[in-house]
Amino acid sequence: MAACEPLHSSSQKPLPPRSTKPGYFLPKTVCIWLACGFLFLAFLHLLCCSPRDAQEAAFTYVLQYANDAYSKLITSRSGGGQPCDYSEGRWVWAPGHARRYNATVCDVKEGQDCLLNGRPDTGYLNWRWQPAGCPLPAFDAAAFLTAVRGKHVAFVGDSMARNQGESLACLLTSAVPHRVVYRDPVRYRRHFMRWAFPTHDVTVSVYWAPFLGRATGKCENYSMPYNLVDLDAPADRWAADADTMDVVVLAASHWVLNPAVYHNGGEVVGVHGHPELKHTDIGYATPLRQVYRMSLEWLSSGRPRTVVLATFSPTHFENHPLDDPTACAKKEPYKEGEKELDSMEKELRKIVVEEAEAAVQRNGPGGAVRIEVLDVTKLAAMRPDGHPGPYMNRDPFANGVAQKMPTDCLHFCLPGPVDTFNEVLQQILMKKR
Ligand SMILES: *[C@@H]1O[C@H](CO)[C@@H](O)[C@H](O)[C@H]1NC(C)=O
Ligand SMILES: *[C@@H]1O[C@H](CO)[C@@H](O)[C@H](O)[C@H]1NC(C)=O
Repeated sequence: MAACEPLHSSSQKPLPPRSTKPGYFLPKTVCIWLACGFLFLAFLHLLCCSPRDAQEAAFTYVLQYANDAYSKLITSRSGGGQPCDYSEGRWVWAPGHARRYNATVCDVKEGQDCLLNGRPDTGYLNWRWQPAGCPLPAFDAAAFLTAVRGKHVAFVGDSMARNQGESLACLLTSAVPHRVVYRDPVRYRRHFMRWAFPTHDVTVSVYWAPFLGRATGKCENYSMPYNLVDLDAPADRWAADADTMDVVVLAASHWVLNPAVYHNGGEVVGVHGHPELKHTDIGYATPLRQVYRMSLEWLSSGRPRTVVLATFSPTHFENHPLDDPTACAKKEPYKEGEKELDSMEKELRKIVVEEAEAAVQRNGPGGAVRIEVLDVTKLAAMRPDGHPGPYMNRDPFANGVAQKMPTDCLHFCLPGPVDTFNEVLQQILMKKR
């Protein structure tokens, strides 16, 4: 009997927890030197005695391994995400990094399922975002769900909010058990969706609200010439559910470029892009500022929560007409300095950053509502190769190449660069305030 009892009598020191002290047959330093020596020899062998392709692949693999090991070390030291500026960096070659799920299986909008639609080149799945001053760990479904255990994560905004919401749903559903709670009955629109992850009691939803504010017209029916937008009231559906939202990702910078009539307190306060209506053109910047401010004030008055503002994700039509199938035909990311943001893209990004800062000031530091910026403008701008282009439709060139065809250089393929938005979101949500 005694032999089976734990050795914790009062006269003995308790054993240290097992995990912190693994058993080594050799002293630890000897093991490390032997391992390094072996790796070095293997690497030399690769460099001199194997074909170039294998060399490149092996080199990338070693780099990726080092990056992941380094990020794990940083993460374990800080007990969570590390403060880091993910907004500046470059895309580095990393074969297969972005091949993380089958978009057909997780049932994304058909227009963004580029592999299903027959896109032949898949090089766009071989890149990883390398921030300037720190590593960005690969998406980890279990870590993400742990960071938002018991919470409702809502994506509110335009079709980029949906693109990112569907990406997150795929990254999670391909890894853990889930249930589809709700789907838009209008299948192609996908304005409202919800998934449940019972292992962590997490809910993920998408809410269509391209102006954040209440809006009708073109955003509900594409045949209408313009939108009618209330700058002083949030759109009904997300407003009704706001009390249930613990993490809200707002992304709504594209529709202010569309023709619209804006109302405040029931009065018309301006129009944009619609010269037939006799009223001052108020542009896009003022309405964008106002709808973000209104939404942030609204979300700051309820329960404690985290509000994440995703910045503008630029399009890549690059001066081509919107229906030119060659508009975003590039096969690689831009290199540093190859493409600068134009002044409008810079302004759209800046407004969201400034409204986040203003809300932090209003709420006071350490307020119940945490406000963060998901600054994706640069990393998205560098990826002209990641859009569906003509592969927004099934086998677009089955009947030859037409001069004009529907072309999408705005949303990202799934899987694709938008998955990186969620890699950064994961780090934001894991970071302690
Ligand atoms: C995704 O899954 C479907 C159905 O199982 C399969 O037919 C298709 O080939 C898969 N696509 C990819 C890109 O693996
Ligand atoms: C959309 O708008 C067009 C043009 O105003 C109209 O003819 C059509 O009935 C509308 N569709 C729906 C579903 O409301």
